[in-house]
Amino acid sequence: MSNKVDPSRFTKDFVWGAATAAYQIEGAVDKDGKGPSIWDSFTTNPDNIADGTDGIIACGHYDRLEQDLDLIAELGLTAYRFSIAWSRIFPDGKGAVNQAGLDFYGRLIDGLLARGVRPFPTLFHWDMPQALYDENGGFMARDTAYYFADYAETVVRALGDRVKSWITLNEPWEHTFMGHLEGVHAPGVTRFDMYMPLMHHQLLGHGLALERIRAATPDAEAGVTLSLTPMHPDTDSDKDRAAARRLNEFLNFVTLDPLFKSQYPGELTERFAPFPADIRDGDMDIISAKVDFVGINTYQRAFAKHDDATPLLQASEARGEEPRQTEFYKDGTLHSTMGWEVYPDSLGEVLGWIRNDYGNPTVYMTENGIALDDHVVDGRVEDPLRAQYLEDHIAQIQSAQASGSDIRGYFVWTLMDNFEWAAGCEKRFGLIHTNYDDLTRMIKASGYWYRDFIAAVQKGS
Ligand code: GCO
Repeated sequence: MSNKVDPSRFTKDFVWGAATAAYQIEGAVDKDGKGPSIWDSFTTNPDNIADGTDGIIACGHYDRLEQDLDLIAELGLTAYRFSIAWSRIFPDGKGAVNQAGLDFYGRLIDGLLARGVRPFPTLFHWDMPQALYDENGGFMARDTAYYFADYAETVVRALGDRVKSWITLNEPWEHTFMGHLEGVHAPGVTRFDMYMPLMHHQLLGHGLALERIRAATPDAEAGVTLSLTPMHPDTDSDKDRAAARRLNEFLNFVTLDPLFKSQYPGELTERFAPFPADIRDGDMDIISAKVDFVGINTYQRAFAKHDDATPLLQASEARGEEPRQTEFYKDGTLHSTMGWEVYPDSLGEVLGWIRNDYGNPTVYMTENGIALDDHVVDGRVEDPLRAQYLEDHIAQIQSAQASGSDIRGYFVWTLMDNFEWAAGCEKRFGLIHTNYDDLTRMIKASGYWYRDFIAAVQKGS
């Protein structure tokens, strides 16, 4: 272990976890009364997924719950972030509750608590019930914010006696952009005009759900998880700097500003004026109600350049690398198999925004990790680049804390290799290796590194 991170500087109650999402690991997509989601539909077209895979089986987690709980315990995690599939609870998105769905998550939560692991459920990680999508277009419609709050209340009333940390949404920007503008995620539509409405309806859903969570479990903490990716100008030119500012509003401040400043970013709002959200009286108060924490997912930075070919924003991403079979170095810098540059400072940068520009709320890092071309060799998976990645990012947390950030936990993305959305099963982010032929799991060397690191923190050495 290098000497960059000093385990003894973390308090013993700092939360060390790993994160997953329902569609990426569970499988069992129509078991025990689950209704279909937009991801079940989207993956029926194998052209939508790089390797033609889908989540029908994924890691088979639904049927391997005890085994996976034991692995979580073996890693020594003190918390586990997972998502609840809305259509397991409400097969049609609303209306009749499916008790078997609630029972599954009840067993998961009981299993975590029995092993001394804190559950951190996320209520929406992109798997919109298909029935609701068919009815009104999911979060394209304002009504869905209210259906989401009803669903949240149902879950919290059933499980809130045991869960003390709730996350409403995961990455509303990705659900909007990749699902509805680029069309590379479910539901696969390309509606640029829906950007502001989708952002607004999700954030409204967050705020409405927060009210219900607070009413149902006043002793729980609740927040929302955002992806934050610092956009840097591609060159020093004024035009590229302005483009970076616009893309930072488009990707990052579009969630932070309404949540913490009760307004959408100014230039963004002007540029999207032809396609506004329907913002009604009181909405911004609901959205900006105080959260107990903000969850942050950060993996990388990106570059922006002025681009007149892009409607409204006149900016686009520059220098992005395509995914590859193996990780690679470019200009001396490691890039993951996703093509993402490894740049730990991006974490420090977003934590600086939160601390300096958004009132320094409590933060959990709810995702951070790297996809590598991992293989089992002689019964082991050696992935020193992942351990290094984790350590370098944990070091960023430590320096942000020294600067005054209130960070209380870190969750590695992800517990085990899983269905990486449009990239399929070939992109491996896990602390645990998944063999997709027989669904056996094997803890990677980085998983053992993380286990030992957590143990060192707890020993205070
Ligand atoms: C995300 C997603 C994860 C991804 C991870 C790697 O919230 O972006 O929560 O589901 O798998 O980010 O791309």
